[in-house]
Amino acid sequence: MKSMFLLLLCPALSQEQLQHEFEFQTSPTKLCSLYIAPSTIPNAGLGIFTAFPLETGDRIGNHDLMIPIVDADLSIGDKTAWMIDDYTWDGSSTGLGRESRREYGVTGFGPGLDGAINCNLALLNVDRQLPEWDDAGLHRSRNPGAGAVAQYSGSKTFASSAIPAGGELFKFYGDNWFESRPETFGNIPLSSDYVRADQLLRRFYYLQSAATFSENIKRSLYDLVTSFPFQGRTVIALPKYHEIVQAIVNGIGSLKQPDAIRSIRELESTGRCLDNIQPGSSSLPEAGRGAFATRPLTAGKVITGSPFFHIPYDSMLFLYKNEWNEGENEFDVDMSVVRGYQLLLNYCWGHKASTVLLCPYSAGVNLINHNQSQANVAVRWAPNGQLSHNSTWLLETPVNEMTSEYSTKIAMDFTALRDIEAGEELFLDYGDEWEKAWIDHVHSWTQFFGKLEGIRPLYQAASTYNNENSKSAILTEDEQDIDPYPANLELRCHKQAMKFVKDETLATCINPSVLWQPAEDGLECDVLERKERGGSLVYTIRLVSNDGSIHIAKGVPRSYLAFFDRPYSTDMHLPWAFRHEIAIPDDMIPDVWKNVK
Ligand SMILES: *[C@@H]1O[C@H](CO)[C@@H](O)[C@H](O)[C@H]1NC(C)=O
Ligand SMILES: *[C@@H]1O[C@H](CO)[C@@H](O)[C@H](O)[C@H]1NC(C)=O
Repeated sequence: MKSMFLLLLCPALSQEQLQHEFEFQTSPTKLCSLYIAPSTIPNAGLGIFTAFPLETGDRIGNHDLMIPIVDADLSIGDKTAWMIDDYTWDGSSTGLGRESRREYGVTGFGPGLDGAINCNLALLNVDRQLPEWDDAGLHRSRNPGAGAVAQYSGSKTFASSAIPAGGELFKFYGDNWFESRPETFGNIPLSSDYVRADQLLRRFYYLQSAATFSENIKRSLYDLVTSFPFQGRTVIALPKYHEIVQAIVNGIGSLKQPDAIRSIRELESTGRCLDNIQPGSSSLPEAGRGAFATRPLTAGKVITGSPFFHIPYDSMLFLYKNEWNEGENEFDVDMSVVRGYQLLLNYCWGHKASTVLLCPYSAGVNLINHNQSQANVAVRWAPNGQLSHNSTWLLETPVNEMTSEYSTKIAMDFTALRDIEAGEELFLDYGDEWEKAWIDHVHSWTQFFGKLEGIRPLYQAASTYNNENSKSAILTEDEQDIDPYPANLELRCHKQAMKFVKDETLATCINPSVLWQPAEDGLECDVLERKERGGSLVYTIRLVSNDGSIHIAKGVPRSYLAFFDRPYSTDMHLPWAFRHEIAIPDDMIPDVWKNVK
């Protein structure tokens, strides 16, 4: 699992740069601007490349979805599907933390650029925003599609430094990612090692320019430093002697840049274009988001391609029963009772004759909806050796051997079934079982579940509630006894409300409006009293700090209070939410994978 917590190490975007982003036009040029292709990092699989030079702040590609995986048990016998873990982010660092009540209970899978960009600690050049709440226009009281699509999206990627044409994109995964994988990465320098190496270089430069050493002595001195018997990570980060001047002027990373570029010809022949598809609002009322062609696509053309990570057993995506434990004041998860499948199932491909699930993690393909009569896109296995696809796997790898393989082995190409015009919505045929399951779902929803929600009109997603009521007074505990909030809402207070605990008179010095960051989920709190002060309302609150201790804070302004969805209350947890995998076509499913009678 990757973590966003340390992202601050990456150069932050200034307000001006963000402005630039919003003016940036995404209208595609004739030539493809973004590719997925073999990474320039050895053994790192695939990476993402820009065909055009980028400036700091430029927006890259479209926004990604973020799919929460909640309280999953990824083990089967004594084996674990670590692979899913490698493609996901720590949920609490990405703003999904409240989907579960368990520590490390949520991970976020961001198919798209987010899932495919590599990390090269010497050359970090992109940054991204956290995803935001986005219900895709589906409401549980009106739409049978509610709960079937991810409710977090908008995770946008930006260049955090200039990137040359053909340059690979790199994003920070957290140093821990590398430290915990010594077999794969060895002693590679971490981000702090590059900082230290840069400092060391500057000192070396100062030292050798102050003394009147001969060239030979300087070289020997440098050799001495870089050949320390213990090959520390910092030492490995140091450049060669003849590169010192460039490293000091442009940073050590600049030395690595030439090796992190692929020619457009290489990208065209070994990679797949990622900007033929853009997200939009689907023409199917229940689908939420959809995929649209950005330029004319001719029949037979490969629109894009995607690697798929494999999940050997669909049971790894079970969703388990949870129950409120009043005594412990938390949710218990009962791993012996399955209550359905993770939302991720809807974004993965499978076949009724096999337990294998394949989940694409490239950009755009997850947005292509199902429609049999309008299908204009088809899939086929990628050619052997392209996009990490290994056709030997289709012939020789039985399901029980897949658990021990942690790198991507499978990829598909998405091709145009007929000529498609720019702006047309793209559709796949997800298979007859999917179609039937969906029709059955809509029928039972209309007959029963829709009406069930209708008698509980109080439900409102926290984000909608906050947007519509950001200034209105918050009811005290006593008032709520008479006039309760929707049951799915939970009031929480910004961490900085703790400042009001110490001394109410300080309150005038504390900023009256506090900003909630996307991943900020505050502290448990209750409102005891509300009063007017200086023309606005302030609150006396009872706060539970992270160590469990209880505090009373007085004079707290409204902006420190916000509503959150209670764990397990969002649409994807609705017991009747639609779940079905997309069909790997009958003529593609390998015989060796058929393990279901
Ligand atoms: C497919 O599209 C047609 C035409 O828009 C529509 O009538 C039909 O309901 C769609 N099918 C599904 C399963 O969404
Ligand atoms: C596919 O996997 C087999 C067995 O693991 C290996 O020998 C072969 O080189 C791989 N092929 C490609 C194209 O990577």
